[in-house]
Amino acid sequence: MPTNDKAAVYRLAVLTLCSLAVVIALAGCGKKNTESGATETLSTATESPWPKLESAVKKDPAVEAKITELLGKLSVEQKVGQLIQPELRHVTPADVIEYGVGSVLNGGGSFPAENKHAKVEDWLALADGFYNASMNTDNGRVAIPIFWGTDAVHGHNNIIGATLFPHNIGLGATRNPELIKQIGAATAAEIAVTGIDWSFAPTLAVVRDDRWGRTYESYSEDPAVVKSYGGKMVEGLQGVAGKDFLSEQHVIATAKHFLADGGTQGGQDRGDATIDEAELVKIHNAGYETALAAGTQTVMASFSSWQGVKMHGNKYLLTDQLKNQMGFDGLVVGDWNGHAFVSGCTPVSCAQAINAGLDIFMAPEGNWKELYHNTVAQVKSDEISQARLDDAVARILRVKIRAGLFEKGAPSMRELAGKREIIGSAEHRAVARQAVRESIVLLKNNSQTLPVKANSKILVAGDGADNIGKQSGGWSITWQGTGNTNADFPGGSSIYQGIAGAAKAAGGAAELSVDGNYKTKPDVAFVVFGEDPYAEMQGDIGSLIYKNETNLALLKKLKADGIKVVSLFITGRPLWANNFINASDAFAVIWLPGSEGAGVADVVLTKADGSVNYDVKGKLPFSWPSSPAQSPLNVGDADYKPQFAFDFGLTYADKTETPVLDETAAQLAAAQVPDTVPVFNQRVMNPWTLVLLDHVNNMAPVTTSSGELGAVKVSSQDKHVQEDTRRLQFNGSAKATAVFGSTLRSDFSSYAEKGALVFDVKVNAKPDADVTVGMYCGSDCQGEISVAEQLNAAPVGEWSSVSIALDCFAKKRVKLDMVLAPFMISSAGNLDISLYNVRIEKNATAPACGE
Ligand code: BGC
Ligand code: BGC
Repeated sequence: MPTNDKAAVYRLAVLTLCSLAVVIALAGCGKKNTESGATETLSTATESPWPKLESAVKKDPAVEAKITELLGKLSVEQKVGQLIQPELRHVTPADVIEYGVGSVLNGGGSFPAENKHAKVEDWLALADGFYNASMNTDNGRVAIPIFWGTDAVHGHNNIIGATLFPHNIGLGATRNPELIKQIGAATAAEIAVTGIDWSFAPTLAVVRDDRWGRTYESYSEDPAVVKSYGGKMVEGLQGVAGKDFLSEQHVIATAKHFLADGGTQGGQDRGDATIDEAELVKIHNAGYETALAAGTQTVMASFSSWQGVKMHGNKYLLTDQLKNQMGFDGLVVGDWNGHAFVSGCTPVSCAQAINAGLDIFMAPEGNWKELYHNTVAQVKSDEISQARLDDAVARILRVKIRAGLFEKGAPSMRELAGKREIIGSAEHRAVARQAVRESIVLLKNNSQTLPVKANSKILVAGDGADNIGKQSGGWSITWQGTGNTNADFPGGSSIYQGIAGAAKAAGGAAELSVDGNYKTKPDVAFVVFGEDPYAEMQGDIGSLIYKNETNLALLKKLKADGIKVVSLFITGRPLWANNFINASDAFAVIWLPGSEGAGVADVVLTKADGSVNYDVKGKLPFSWPSSPAQSPLNVGDADYKPQFAFDFGLTYADKTETPVLDETAAQLAAAQVPDTVPVFNQRVMNPWTLVLLDHVNNMAPVTTSSGELGAVKVSSQDKHVQEDTRRLQFNGSAKATAVFGSTLRSDFSSYAEKGALVFDVKVNAKPDADVTVGMYCGSDCQGEISVAEQLNAAPVGEWSSVSIALDCFAKKRVKLDMVLAPFMISSAGNLDISLYNVRIEKNATAPACGE
């Protein structure tokens, strides 16, 4: 999908749906969504569960003096410029001069001149352009070097030819903190070659519900593992305080996403962590303890909320705990337009976030200039105090000074700049290959099928066999990791290439056949399959089941042919796959190994002499489910019944024979479904709540018979019995939305074929603008369909019924198996309707979808 469309969808999400999950969660617990309110209630607690921390990077009086001196010289405008971080696609060096922009970023899949194949020189030239602009002193400007941040989340992954390390979930399986440090250092060096100063990593999420699409960005569900890695990755990226801290070989790190991004209800992207404070600290702050102690210079605020309060507006957590209690003196950067979701905010105006403790707005769209102007005005009107502005700028300057940016000179003049040979160097690839080897988790190895003798006749099958894009997952060259071919990973190796190379060297042979049709009957088949690449938002799923009939049939066919079958499962999370495990003699999880696929062969094949080459070492960093519905599932749960427990992983010394696993869940998936699912039937049905939304992210759950918010008002009417109908009146003063939503997902996938969303409606006054009915399943997972025509055609004052085929929503990116809000109606105009009986019907007649 073209970037522009994506951006449009995203904006819509920001403007109309904002914190839908939060709203609904609030409705459930009856709390008020006030950022400041939360601060008051919580700060009265006597004993703080939060640790007092000491950073290895100490305050330096000389640095502080320089900050004071600079602050004295900067105008309000130049200070505000430091707070704004535009994205590559919407900022030029000329803008940097005009607005005093303090930093830039390139988002996932964003390159100089939007050229995926941009060369190291192109990155450097652009970095120099921004830097030189930032050092321009015309018209009394003070020279403040700009810095540039990038998502180097598994290596310098936006650069063709870079070493791509296994994603964090695989690193979690290695349980090797020293290796994490080496990976950080290698990544930092590759970043420095391109003149970039700052990596938006590590992700310290402790993911508790694996349906979240970012589970693979998490090292583990266990806070202890994340804690043992957080500081190490920071040291690898930034260097060690007092030694090589932010030397020419290193870059600034970011601990993200603060806090409890991995603790949202239902594993919902940008959702709400409804947990209590003790759990918030114990589970989700674990990685920050070591990352802050190691001196991470930046922290990224999470899109998500804690107890209904968006992190970007959460003063209690950003200021009181992170900065004051835990002593963080670096800067807090926002996430991609994350401020826009704070209640009362828009993408272009959000004093609330700065006042809560955000220091840099990540403002990736073309409208960042409006945000700049509004922020300047908010400082001038004292909505943002001078003291808060100065504190934010002081933090930004502190990081820039500590990073040596005032001395290092133009990006292209730095020590590693332009040293192309460092990117994807043999040394870095060796570290990545070691990580691949150590990350493999062996779940089943009956009759000691593995390791396979390297001199065997081997078939390598499955759509992951020779597919470096698939094995690398999201955040690989492109944002979602889609659209790549092996040619986009020069210097890398696919799983097949690794196996073929090792087999050949030992006198064996490997045949590649994606569909499994072989020319020569093999002794053994490696079938490489699993999840296709995805990243945030698009990776959320409704249940932890792995479904793929083609692959299952392939495993069964090979077995039926009398061939030993080894499954190599590519995945970003544990998935229920008992039927696949049963169909395999051996089953190894290889996660998302990245560019060095050959590391897999190192383990699954023997040496030429038939002895074990490398033993399997990986241990499950996440619990493996015993049913598709088993999420959340975490070690330490009261009723812990996983299929494979956290920490499980066979070695070649183990002689375990795995019995046939229970497959009944597979049959369950095809279970009976009722003909009608009522959403509103005389009352709002479980699990949904009626919520009103306005155009600036305010929301009001309607838990009684009436309510009002902004341009929309709801009241109850009687059709057959008391209050069995809801009247919705939109007054046209702004866009408004009424939603039936829940934090629990509903699976309507069995209704996809002939099903429809149906509602009875009485038009009291015809609309004078467009009216849409939508479904929502998460950010970037929603679709709206205009019903203006039907409403206009309906006779005023009479009941009629409107049907929208579910298929029409599916075509608009709604995933029917994970619906959060089955009905939401929006209009910016005047409209007066009564609603009765909103439902999903299995067999309904509905008009064909529009364009
Ligand atoms: C992600 C961050 C990332 C940022 C910049 C956001 O959508 O949540 O992890 O750093 O984009 O690409
Ligand atoms: C952009 C990516 C970015 C992501 C963050 C996408 O729309 O194309 O570059 O990283 O948003 O959410």
